[in-house]
Amino acid sequence: MKKTVLAFSRITPAMVERLEAHFDVIVPNPKAGDIAAQFNEALPKAHGLIGAGRPLGRKQLADASNLEVVSSVSVGYDNYDVGYLTERGIMLTNTPDVLTQSTADLAFALIMSSARRVAELDAWTKAGNWKASVGADQFGTDVYGKTLGIVGLGNIGAAVARRGHLGFDMPILYSGNSRKPELEQALGAQFRSLEQLLAEADFVCLVVPLSDKTRHMIGAAELAQMKKSAILVNISRGPVVDEAALVQALREGTLRGAGLDVYEKEPLAESPLFQLGNVVTLPHIGSATAQTRDAMAYRAIDNLTAALLGKRPQDLVNPQTFKG
Ligand code: DGY
Repeated sequence: MKKTVLAFSRITPAMVERLEAHFDVIVPNPKAGDIAAQFNEALPKAHGLIGAGRPLGRKQLADASNLEVVSSVSVGYDNYDVGYLTERGIMLTNTPDVLTQSTADLAFALIMSSARRVAELDAWTKAGNWKASVGADQFGTDVYGKTLGIVGLGNIGAAVARRGHLGFDMPILYSGNSRKPELEQALGAQFRSLEQLLAEADFVCLVVPLSDKTRHMIGAAELAQMKKSAILVNISRGPVVDEAALVQALREGTLRGAGLDVYEKEPLAESPLFQLGNVVTLPHIGSATAQTRDAMAYRAIDNLTAALLGKRPQDLVNPQTFKG
């Protein structure tokens, strides 16, 4: 008898077809009523879950008595209660590597857009304000040659650092749990404490995973350590930054600007950030290119298929759950 897979997001019909080679697949259909109700109804049958953007822990999975694997179509896994899944022997997989370059591209889009006020001046032009050459009020700030501080020099952080070093001749500073001698050598990256990095960088780019340690790691005190001319870019997770403190710093002009892809609460439907011209707000699109989202989904399908066929998945977050 085939095992059952419940696919809850980021899965196309072609992907469902691939899954159907091995499994019975249930995909909640928005046209058939409440998605959450369909998900909950199918949950007890499911041996595998695949998707992203749904918090899954003790409360949500109480009825998932057959569940063997949760395959997340994301690199971040802060939505899942890893301790609980591990306690239940449920494998958790993610999709690292395949989104590294797209996400690093987006960090640079935010750096460029916030420094050169791309989004703001695009809206200004389209509103018919361009009557004469722009004056100092519309000037941006340079990117080339400025100091780039990267908080969290993992794969994505390193890809951002490479762009900064090779493309924009930026001195690279980084902070994190460990030194990266190979990147220090290749990119001239220099290790700093978070405090030193905040004080020295012209652009501070956050690329750390969300954890108890990184929640609100950038609050009022840290923002006050940054240069008044600096720009904060967040492509990691919203709760890494105390958003209220960020709004205050931007309003008061103790920080030049911010480029944000992530927020404390998503989707962000309403926010004081929307009133601020010196902020670029994107809707969590770090990995959102057609090619990368496909690559992520197929990697997640491979992980899920391996797990349900008794093989070790490539990207197992909690290896202790693999029984071989
Ligand atoms: C991830 O994969 O974690 C990205 O934030 C996209 O969801």
